[in-house]
Amino acid sequence: MQIYCTPNYDAMSRKAGSILASLVVLKPNCTLGLATGSTPIGLYKELIARCESGELDFSAVKSVNLDEYIGLGGDHDQSYRYFMNTNLFDHINIQKANTHVPNGLAPDADAECARYESVIDALGPIDCQLLGMGHNGHIGFNEPAEHFPLVTHAVDLQPSTIQANARFFATMEDVPRRALTMGIGSIMKAKSILVVVSGKDKAPIVKRAFAGPVTPQVPASILQLHPNVTLVGDEAALCELLG
Ligand code: GLP
Repeated sequence: MQIYCTPNYDAMSRKAGSILASLVVLKPNCTLGLATGSTPIGLYKELIARCESGELDFSAVKSVNLDEYIGLGGDHDQSYRYFMNTNLFDHINIQKANTHVPNGLAPDADAECARYESVIDALGPIDCQLLGMGHNGHIGFNEPAEHFPLVTHAVDLQPSTIQANARFFATMEDVPRRALTMGIGSIMKAKSILVVVSGKDKAPIVKRAFAGPVTPQVPASILQLHPNVTLVGDEAALCELLG
């Protein structure tokens, strides 16, 4: 695993942005696995700036996102489709038809999961899957569990995740309880993985994930078994891992 420790969030965003940008330059028709959450927002700003300056061309890039809340449509301002449109897709020259997010309003969640997994497979291996990490070590919405889920599936969110997401919703009752997420197997199929972490509050889970035992109780720990992982974090998030 390659680890880059940066002084702060902005430097982390520039470094991680450069890694994804170099992939787009080298392989203009690459498939990017994308993530939501507050951590990648600065990285997305980097990509937007480089696209606006003419350095990057996303016209042939395809994307596939990790997850979506069940019950929220793409025009709901807390849906992950909306997040991706407003934080990245609306500002770069990617073709919207080439961007994929699970459909949170699909009437049959299991059928939507099967459809989404076939979309991932049809795109070919994801060239680089971007990941943030939840405080309990979740990646996508793969929560701590007894086993590593293989494929895209519907999941009940843990109370700690619901609590962490509550800041984005008007009331606790509005916070979605379920989500559709790529499985750990879907993520591990990617050719390379780029993990971004920021802030002191992530330091304990970063250490458990990358220096502790590989266990489904810490879903991100599976990344220790992937052959091509890059971890980019600021000093606050990496301090416990790097000692
Ligand atoms: C949500 C997303 C994850 C993300 C996590 C961390 O749970 N489903 O993909 O990694 O939030 O978010 P943040 O970067 O805001 O800490």
